[in-house]
Amino acid sequence: MYNNIITELENNILTIKINRESKLNALNIETLQEIKNAVSLAQDDKEISGIILTGSGSKAFAAGADISEFVNFDVKQGTKMSADGHEVMNTIEQSRKPVIAAVNGFALGGGCELAMACHIRIASENAKFGQPEVNLGVPPGYGGTQRLIQLVGKGKAIELLLTADAISANEALEYRLVNDVVPIEDLLPRCFEILKKINTKSPSAIAKVINCVNDFYKDGVDGFQTEIEEFGHAFGTADFKEGTDAFLNKRKPEFKQS
Ligand code: COA
Repeated sequence: MYNNIITELENNILTIKINRESKLNALNIETLQEIKNAVSLAQDDKEISGIILTGSGSKAFAAGADISEFVNFDVKQGTKMSADGHEVMNTIEQSRKPVIAAVNGFALGGGCELAMACHIRIASENAKFGQPEVNLGVPPGYGGTQRLIQLVGKGKAIELLLTADAISANEALEYRLVNDVVPIEDLLPRCFEILKKINTKSPSAIAKVINCVNDFYKDGVDGFQTEIEEFGHAFGTADFKEGTDAFLNKRKPEFKQS
């Protein structure tokens, strides 16, 4: 079904693995479109409660956009490449189901941007993060200049963007670029553990939280207003009835995936 990714469903968790190990999982355009497609399809799949995005092998999550593919692009193609890439990242960020990046090695350029579009990032100890685009004569094009600021703050972000320095997993943890660092053998189990916990919660409330958090960063959108609307809307959901009834009857709630 896909040429560049492998998808696997286990315990209601969809793992999307970038499968270009010999190219350090470099993100050619087809790979990004396949990721977008898999995340989009997951939105209405009742079997899927959460998504893990990772790279094949133990060296790279993704070593950036595929340089050999865009080397001869002109201005028009470069602009389209960036706009299409933004759509992929936005699809991940706006996923109603939580997406965790299991960063198993290099996350450079587009790889770092891909990880930053996910809701949570867990890194293996060997992971390395950076935005080396200025070495190639371009700025980041898949949202890196914006999401890096959101995660680490302007001061550190601009230093990393201007120097093209790659940082270790522990430095990324220190700067809050990642949520946690674990030995590589614990990487996927840790991501599964987090998603299994989230999976016991109300899926509709999870989607609402993601939407409210995303609205914090949208220009001209009042995230507080979004919260009022999402909170109110929740009162009309089956999850609200189930969650409150379970609490009052001292039982565990059983939410249904929507
Ligand atoms: N695009 C296309 N191909 C890439 C790639 C990328 N972003 N990153 C790695 N590859 C390819 C290499 O060309 C090489 O292919 P080959 O075996 O056919 O020659 C293969 O992946 C292995 O990479 P290599 O550079 O030999 O591994 P390394 O361990 O010596 O170095 C890196 C690892 C990550 C430091 C190095 O590959 C690198 O700097 N990659 C580019 C990072 C980058 O600038 N990303 C931003 C792109 S916008």
